Amino acid sequence: MIFIEHGNTKHVTEFEAGTTLMQVAVDNAIPGIDGDCGGECDCGTCHVIVAAEWFENAGAAGDAEEQMLSMTPERTKTSRLGCQVETTEAMDGMTVHLPVFQM
Ligand code: FES
Repeated sequence: MIFIEHGNTKHVTEFEAGTTLMQVAVDNAIPGIDGDCGGECDCGTCHVIVAAEWFENAGAAGDAEEQMLSMTPERTKTSRLGCQVETTEAMDGMTVHLPVFQM
């Protein structure tokens, strides 16, 4: 999985299926993913922008995530909360961009 910071610094990470994008980022000390609420969909500090070609692999956002994203100033069409995206083997090579700042 590839995380790209706003300044274009790239981080290539290993991951296992069955965790979350947020946990992969935190486990790999990716700057800019805080995960303050521990994955409870309650803080919005795990906002990521999934590369458009990978967006369908991330599944659909639930109501609580949609509500939290609606308060995210930097939301884009492919924004997700990393803690709400469960990793699957189909995400091997997935590219995820980080916003300029988190809420
Ligand atoms: S870690 Fe708090 S909303 Fe994702």
